[in-house]
Amino acid sequence: MSPPRLQLVNLRKSFGAVDVLADISLSVQPCEFVSILGPSGAGKSTILQLLIGAGGPDAGQMLVDGAPLSPSRHPFAFMPQGDALMPWRRIIDNATLGLQVQGMNRRAARARVTPLLAEFGLAGFEHHYPAQLSGGMRQRAALLRTTVQQRPMLLLDEPFGALDALTRAQMQRWLAGMWDRHRWTVLLITHDVREAVLLSDRIYVLSQRPARIARQFIVPLPHPRPALGSPALAAIEADILQTLFYPEEEPCR
Ligand SMILES: Nc1ncnc2c1ncn2[C@@H]1O[C@H](COP(=O)(O)OP(=O)(O)OP(=O)(O)O)[C@@H](O)[C@H]1O
Ligand SMILES: [Mg+2]
Repeated sequence: MSPPRLQLVNLRKSFGAVDVLADISLSVQPCEFVSILGPSGAGKSTILQLLIGAGGPDAGQMLVDGAPLSPSRHPFAFMPQGDALMPWRRIIDNATLGLQVQGMNRRAARARVTPLLAEFGLAGFEHHYPAQLSGGMRQRAALLRTTVQQRPMLLLDEPFGALDALTRAQMQRWLAGMWDRHRWTVLLITHDVREAVLLSDRIYVLSQRPARIARQFIVPLPHPRPALGSPALAAIEADILQTLFYPEEEPCR
C-alpha cells in the first residue's frame, strides 16, 4: 500500500512559555479532502506554518509520501489566512505570482492561468486590482493562484473566514464542485463546522491549546454532497459541535 501523501506523527510545538501543539498526529491520503476544525487560537495555523517550513517542530515527524519533509522539497501550495492578494498587482499578476516564484517566466505563467479564469469566475476581471473585486472574487483569485501551481497538496487556511455568511455558503458550494472535478489533495483549516462537513472526507477536531486531536470524524457521504438540510450532514454537524463545546463529556445516551 502506498504511504499517505501527508503524515504528521506526534508533533509538538511551543512558542516560549506558550505550549501550542501538545501532540498532533494525522494523515491525508492522495486525492483526499481533510479538514482541521478547532477553536480560535488552538494552533491550527501553526500546523500549516510548520509544514511550509516556518520554524521546525519541537518534536515529532512530518512525512510526505513516506519521506521526511525537508527544506529542499516544496510539495505544498499554501493559501494563507486572510486576504492573500497583493493590492498593487492586477488579478492576472496575482494569479501568476506562485508560478513566477517557482521560476516560470511571466508569459508562460499567464498562458497557464488565462484558460482557468472562467472556471474561477474571474473572466473579464483579470486586469482589475483586488480592491475592484468582491470578497468572494478575491478569494477565488487567491485559490486560483494556489491551485495553478499544481503542487502535490493544497494547504488552505480559512479561505472563506472573512466572507459574509451568504457569500461563504456560495463559495463552499463552488469549491465543492471544483474539488469534485479536480480531486486535489487538500488540508483545509476552518472553524466553520458546516464547511468542514460539506467539503471533507475526514475531519480532525482539535482540543483547546495546547492542541491535541480531540476526535476524528469520517464523512461517509459521496461527493458532491446533498444540498442544504440533509439529515445525514446535520447529524455529523451536531456530533462535531458536541465535541467542540463539550470535549470531555461522554454522551449519556
Ligand atoms: N510565530 C509565533 N510566535 C509566538 N507565538 C505564536 C506564533 N505563531 C503562533 N503563536 C501563538 O500560537 C497560538 C496558536 O496560534 P494559531 O495562529 O496557530 O491559532 P489558530 O488556531 O490558527 O487560531 P485562529 O482560528 O484564530 O486563526 C496563539 O497563542 C499564538 O499567539
Ligand atoms: Mg489561524
